[in-house]
Amino acid sequence: MVRSRITAAIALGANVGEPERSFKRALSLLERDGDVQILRRSHWHGTDAVGGPAEQPDYTNGAVLVETTLTPGALLERLHGIEAHLGRDRANEERRGPRVLDLDLLYALDEEGAFLAEHGDELHLPHPRMEERPFVLAPLKEIAPAQRLPRSGRTVAEQLDFLEESGGLARLESPAEARAWCEAARAAGATIGFVPTMGALHQGHLELVRRAAMENDLACVSVFVNPLQFNDPADLEKYPRDLEGDARLLAGVGCAMVFTGTLEGFFPGELVDGALPAAAYVPPGPSAAGLEGEFRPGHLDGVATIVDRLFDVVEPTRAYFGAKDFQQCLVVQHVADRRGGAPEIVRCPTVRESTGIAMSSRNALLDDGAREAARALHRGLSAARDAWVAGERDASSLSQRLREGASQPSVDLEYAEVRDPQRWTPGQPTGALERAVGLVAANVGGVRLIDNMEFDGDAR
Ligand code: PAF
Repeated sequence: MVRSRITAAIALGANVGEPERSFKRALSLLERDGDVQILRRSHWHGTDAVGGPAEQPDYTNGAVLVETTLTPGALLERLHGIEAHLGRDRANEERRGPRVLDLDLLYALDEEGAFLAEHGDELHLPHPRMEERPFVLAPLKEIAPAQRLPRSGRTVAEQLDFLEESGGLARLESPAEARAWCEAARAAGATIGFVPTMGALHQGHLELVRRAAMENDLACVSVFVNPLQFNDPADLEKYPRDLEGDARLLAGVGCAMVFTGTLEGFFPGELVDGALPAAAYVPPGPSAAGLEGEFRPGHLDGVATIVDRLFDVVEPTRAYFGAKDFQQCLVVQHVADRRGGAPEIVRCPTVRESTGIAMSSRNALLDDGAREAARALHRGLSAARDAWVAGERDASSLSQRLREGASQPSVDLEYAEVRDPQRWTPGQPTGALERAVGLVAANVGGVRLIDNMEFDGDAR
């Protein structure tokens, strides 16, 4: 029987020992049995290590194009065998850690030049991350510059130019485009980490994106100032917006795609006189009752509705939210539960300025006086936490400490209360608390700020 031949691109990388020597030995082992022929080989490129532990040595990268009668699975097995022979211990290595040799199968083409698709535990073809990685594309460009890539539809050379110009960030203008991009990424076997935002990004958002990029094949972000969650039109009007600045920041933290949209774009054909009918709203669940639910009626309904729609568009593996919006995190978990438990919701610690103020897009609206006054919220939360640490377990006494600490002439408190973070109650819980979270909302210099602190949890 005549075995069909495939053409495959293989990436080589190493940053331990003598990479060039390892590559030469690896390539001669690859050809040893006569069933793999190297058609083209790139030069070896020196690149920085991406992610992983700090201060690991720079990488050497390269690529080869081969022809073989092996199946993609058998070729991958051959590559893993060579890695092991030259000293790589896949079972005991650190994610993105130093490598004595890394041989990755990037893509395989049948005799007609069509991509072969494989989505097994070990083998993902085409490789889900190759289009995002300049250190893979640069050597690949030497050996297959005109090869069209499956997700972007660009050639290898065009995609490399695109990454150099945009920092690797695809900028899409509508949910429809984002849906198509995500579908193609998922079809290539990529996991997607998603960070929904309303823009005006700060370090807190960037931490979420870094983590999404670290824990998934691709990180993507939405920037949409969602009118459904603003109960005050003036607040919606003055909400800060800076899409160009956001894109620059995202390109620097490994974000692969950012998309925006309009209300009509998110809910095509569903708006009546420009508004979403009440029946189309997604219920936010029991944790929307009290506090934010009381002081911003409809806000969490709007959050649940847009987040559910964003999940429809992206279908992420994981979605990342900041713990600063405590009730929002509970609501978003409820949305994911209604969807059968997907995506996995990852709640990340609040990032604070050195003054203790929780990072928020709204901080951009604070003048110097208000910024100084806003420190009181963190002071109040810390005072209540100190009381907790000293043994206080009564919600009303803890709330009292929180209120006293946060009170200031220019801080107009909406609420300063304590809840059990695992058993949400609209009102103050009674009896001795086993766990507690202090929650505060205030108007400071015309800007509404919220913050919270868990007294015995991981979130800060
Ligand atoms: O936290 C936010 O920025 C928004 O509430 C969210 C989750 C992006 C929904 O619009």
